[in-house]
Amino acid sequence: MAILPIRIWGDPVLTRRAVAVDRITGAERKLIADMIETMQAADGAGLAAPQVGVSKRIFVFRRGEETHALINPRIVRRAGERKTGNEGCLSIPGVQAKVARHARVVVTGRDEKGKPVEFECEDNDEQGRAATCVQHEIDHLDGVLYIDKALPETLSWLLEETDDDGEEVVNLYETTPEEIRATYNSRRLPANLHIPDVLRERIEK
Ligand code: NI
Repeated sequence: MAILPIRIWGDPVLTRRAVAVDRITGAERKLIADMIETMQAADGAGLAAPQVGVSKRIFVFRRGEETHALINPRIVRRAGERKTGNEGCLSIPGVQAKVARHARVVVTGRDEKGKPVEFECEDNDEQGRAATCVQHEIDHLDGVLYIDKALPETLSWLLEETDDDGEEVVNLYETTPEEIRATYNSRRLPANLHIPDVLRERIEK
């Protein structure tokens, strides 16, 4: 297994529609194993194949304590009204914003062995943000990033700071898409940006 380089916003693979997988081979199974390792190394809740430069309809995600892979995923049911919650993305690291998503979805697809699978995903105490995550990852496969759906005034940098009691906290600072792109392009990130080390190295290299 290997940790794969994560593509950062601005990379054209992230805005391309990924293609369906018609045969699941050893190559797809290796990709999935590597994607799971990469997601865990970056402490992510989900990772889509385009984020590691592979334009195929595959993603991995966490649902509570479980980790699953889905190939050619499709949302077959959306339930409940849409709720607004905080979201981030490993391809737009150090940033969060609010996005409206369905709180419960049913998603189907195939697992890494080619077996048809179906998952009920819900944002709740047991599953975490599984429903939001599935919607976010399927958007990746369609070349859509959450930042395009976010409420613009909620777009924020995450900065690690020390509060008055000496506690380490993460504070939000309002930003814009233009400022985020310019900061990544400069290859110099704020020293206290809240970002996994593997992603900081990737941007600053
Ligand atoms: Ni993402």
